[in-house]
Amino acid sequence: MEYETPLFFRVMQYADRADRDVIDMVSGNPDWEPPAALREGLHEYADLEPDQFQYPPSEGLRELREEIAARRNVDVEQVVVTNGAGEANYLAMARALERDRGDEIVLTDPVYPYYPGKTTMLGGTQRFVAADEAGQLDPADVREVASERTAAIVVNSPNNPTGAVYPEETVRELVEIAEEYDALLISDEVYDHFDLSGRFASALGVDSDHRIVTNAFSKSMAITGFRVGYAIFPPELIENAKSRHMLVNVAGSRPSQYAVLRALRETEPEYYEESRELLAERVETFTDALEAAGADYTTPQGSFYVMARFDGYPGTLENVERLIDEAGVAGMPGEAFGDSRSEWLRFALVTPRVSAAADRLAAYFE
Ligand SMILES: Cc1ncc(COP(=O)(O)O)c(C=O)c1O
Repeated sequence: MEYETPLFFRVMQYADRADRDVIDMVSGNPDWEPPAALREGLHEYADLEPDQFQYPPSEGLRELREEIAARRNVDVEQVVVTNGAGEANYLAMARALERDRGDEIVLTDPVYPYYPGKTTMLGGTQRFVAADEAGQLDPADVREVASERTAAIVVNSPNNPTGAVYPEETVRELVEIAEEYDALLISDEVYDHFDLSGRFASALGVDSDHRIVTNAFSKSMAITGFRVGYAIFPPELIENAKSRHMLVNVAGSRPSQYAVLRALRETEPEYYEESRELLAERVETFTDALEAAGADYTTPQGSFYVMARFDGYPGTLENVERLIDEAGVAGMPGEAFGDSRSEWLRFALVTPRVSAAADRLAAYFE
């Protein structure tokens, strides 16, 4: 079996090697400050006794799990701290497939490419449901592909790459479909702090034994390098997930969890509000310039990404490399996210040079 290696690294490497200045809008690495308490927690950690440098509990520091459980209003035993949302999604999908209730994973098109990659790696079968132009998912379409073979439905809101935020009715219906077929809804909410619409609905709002919520501090605290995330499982499904986590990782990173715990306790809502405002400003700057350039584009309701379509310039890897060399802007090919966006390019708004990037694109496509 061959696994699909995500294209992100290939594009980033290409951009790094270019012999010109390139504005990097490839991946979702925030360029803004983490919470002050996170830096303080890290400094403090350096002076702790050696026993604090040893294995933490495999399922995560107890206090961190308690803090997460209290905030999400779930039992602490339902929480496993993971190596980012990436591992949380992996544990959730593996758990869905090992229940032997089906081998199919229902995904959206466009899709965050790691989901189909993980599906294949875990021996599952991919089934795609098209999102509409705005990135919204019609539960009736999901119902059409759902069957006794469905192991899980994996969704992501606020969405990468479309920027869609699913309304509460959609989330509720997706949980109901999962219940109907004894499958699991896996809701990846890693961009929950970047809801620009005010309409974000967590799947935790729908009480059910058929949903798993995954999340991380990677984006909300601007620390994708720390690798701290979590999954919230139904009580009867969590034990196997914790064992898998232990067998794969032994445990997570103790200093990272320590610093995140401190930041979680001490960071005021204003920190998150400021990050959202920064992002909203960048969305406006970038989309205004795309409008002036005559491109089609998405206006995200959440997450970090804008998709754009330029006439006669489909979203292939080749065109992305050309854009790096000739315009000095690095994005992701739309085709990486599925057939439906193969005409599009995706740009991550995680650089202070959003305005310069938009100018370069406008000049290039003039
Ligand atoms: C939808 C989605 N899920 C998961 C991840 C990975 O998150 P983490 O870095 O916490 O593993 C990303 C990162 O870009 C993402 O966009």
